[in-house]
Amino acid sequence: MKDHEEQKVLQRNIFNLSELKNIMEEVRKLHITDKSILLLTGDLGAGKTTSIRILMELLGVSHQQVASPSFALHHHYKTSNGLNIDHFDLYRLEDQDDLESTGFWDVFATELPTLIAIEWADRLNWDYLPLDWKQIHLHFILVPSGELDTPSHREVTLFSKKGK
Ligand SMILES: Nc1ncnc2c1ncn2[C@@H]1O[C@H](COP(=O)(O)OP(=O)(O)O)[C@@H](O)[C@H]1O
Ligand SMILES: [Mg+2]
Repeated sequence: MKDHEEQKVLQRNIFNLSELKNIMEEVRKLHITDKSILLLTGDLGAGKTTSIRILMELLGVSHQQVASPSFALHHHYKTSNGLNIDHFDLYRLEDQDDLESTGFWDVFATELPTLIAIEWADRLNWDYLPLDWKQIHLHFILVPSGELDTPSHREVTLFSKKGK
């Protein structure tokens, strides 16, 4: 295995929000550094925004502050112990040039401890992500129950790729 390849850390079937919270607690404790990118991929409604909300809560940002951003609305939060959080949602991103014009790449230029959380991260070419940031990738799959609009559960996979 090459040094900087993405590695599967865990895969779990989750049936409720408290099981999602357990995973996010693990992400907070074991994976978040002062320079990390949380890449969230997976179906609409699978739990990307919810995961970020739970993580913010665990980090000490109040629930009320956290919105689901639509693209071009970039949300910024700060925890009580000084971690900056930049939250993007790339759902409406049409091409990579839109990222340039919205200042997306500027957030990587910071010297401050920062977590960059990106919903619909598969809209982004990950080859352009700066190598000195740790990549934490959460992939969500909605597993159907057979009943319309009611998933049986979610399958969550966590991958990690260390920064150089
Ligand atoms: N693990 C879970 N168990 C139960 N409900 C969940 C879970 N994850 C998300 N949900 C619910 O699913 C809905 C959509 O979640 P959301 O986070 O907005 O999805 P996404 O951002 O991926 O489109 C919300 O009502 C949320 O409460
Ligand atoms: Mg969302």
